[in-house]
Amino acid sequence: MDVNSSLPSNEAPALDVAAVLLAAGYGTRMKSTLPKVLHPVAGRAMIEWCLEAVRPVAVRRPIVVVGHGSERVRKQIGAGVDFVEQAELLGTAHALQQAAPLLWPSDGAAPDAVVVTYGDMPQLRAETLQALLARFAQARAEEGAAFAMLTVVRDDAQGFGRVVRQNGNPNGPLQAIVEEVDCTSEQRALRELNVGIYCFDGDWLRDNLFRIERSRKGEFYLTDLVALAVAGGRPVVALPAPADEVDGINTRVHLAQAEAMLRRRIAERHMLAGVTVMDPATTWIDADVQIGPDTVLLPGTLLQGKTTIGAGARIGPHSQLVDAMIGDGCTVAWSVVEQARMDAHSEVGPFGHLRKGAHLGEGVHMGNFGEVKNSYLGAGTKMGHFSYIGDAEIGEETNIGAGTITCNYDGANKHKTKIGRNVFIGSDTMLVAPLVIGEGGRTGAGSVVTHDVAPGELVVGVPARPLPARQPASIEKTPTAATKAAAEPSAPQ
Ligand code: UD1
Ligand code: CA
Repeated sequence: MDVNSSLPSNEAPALDVAAVLLAAGYGTRMKSTLPKVLHPVAGRAMIEWCLEAVRPVAVRRPIVVVGHGSERVRKQIGAGVDFVEQAELLGTAHALQQAAPLLWPSDGAAPDAVVVTYGDMPQLRAETLQALLARFAQARAEEGAAFAMLTVVRDDAQGFGRVVRQNGNPNGPLQAIVEEVDCTSEQRALRELNVGIYCFDGDWLRDNLFRIERSRKGEFYLTDLVALAVAGGRPVVALPAPADEVDGINTRVHLAQAEAMLRRRIAERHMLAGVTVMDPATTWIDADVQIGPDTVLLPGTLLQGKTTIGAGARIGPHSQLVDAMIGDGCTVAWSVVEQARMDAHSEVGPFGHLRKGAHLGEGVHMGNFGEVKNSYLGAGTKMGHFSYIGDAEIGEETNIGAGTITCNYDGANKHKTKIGRNVFIGSDTMLVAPLVIGEGGRTGAGSVVTHDVAPGELVVGVPARPLPARQPASIEKTPTAATKAAAEPSAPQ
């Protein structure tokens, strides 16, 4: 998207904007083997949020400066960005210098503007960068500004560069940014702080980026560009930043704060789109989850990965859905659904577990303590209590009695169970796979079925055998011990 597309066309010509993310730092205070910018926040790596904020602003592919843990960062972000390596971490200006060959290739056009931001500010929104770009364009046109930068005013200033203005006047022209270690005690007391996000005039940056000298600490400070610009007669302007978007993450305490904020933002987006979130504080929705209107999320619900949920569903309380595909009107209560699919109006729980490849057809009812893996249950099938179904295909309107187990593993291999439609599996049946149970077949309670069951056939016992040709009607009238077992209702009422 072109950043200027939202402005009337006569206001500003579209700028050719490049963007650079600095992400080479050690992130020492995370105390982690994982590079800081790869730590997940609300379901995405931190740096992916930063890239999302930059993409609507940048006309060119974003450039990411990597250093510490660069292999892993490159691998995770993959396509859509250009990487440059900062082999030695010699400061923020040195980091940006590494991007120079990509910003100003000898055979390409120079960008009008260069936006510089960090890989550890996942809360930063595209709107804020857009406002910075607009402020820059205006200040360049009106007063020949070299760049615009974001600042915040706040009491907790520790670690930040201080913004120095002429005569200490809070509205006076900018003169310099002084890093905390280099501050006089007077400067240290300043409360306007450098956020570290800039929008530079492209040509001016090219001509000045390599003029920065080493600091006392031995680093090259990007912040020195303010004094350089002012000395060269080019003003620098500041734009106040939303304070809650510009906290760089340095520790896992910051990480948790960013997580809470981004989750809140995601939940609000869904609420405004018609989803009821009963308790946003305990409802975790990952960034890429999709939810239809009139769905209700009860407390303690985690919706993760690429989960999609239809309209009018009821999810939770206390449920975890990972890469799940849930149809309209489904119910998931106190359950875990992973890489599984539920068609419209099917239900699971309380305490159900749908594992990889589970697929419940329309209107399937799966009650307490059921587990289904790599199996399809046809529409209208019921599985009320304590069952395990794995590697099975089950037809429509079949009843899976309490405690039924597909014995799909013989110690070496997995085998399939195929159950037809309108089948009645008695309580506590062991279905020893491979096995086929024909349409309308029945098994007696407690039977261990080791051989295929023909359509309409009733088998009972251990191992299960067909009952002598007797009609179901006569079984009900004159129950014997064996026929009583066969006829036992599967679902305790
Ligand atoms: C920087 C600013 C400071 C500002 C603060 C805001 C400078 C000199 N100072 O200080 O004015 O208030 O950010 O957070 O710019 N990085 C590299 N390579 C390097 C050094 C840093 O890629 O050699 C990256 C880091 O990964 C990080 C960012 O740049 O994302 C900021 O680096 P950091 O060392 O945290 O800068 P600060 O000292 O906090
Ligand atoms: Ca920092």
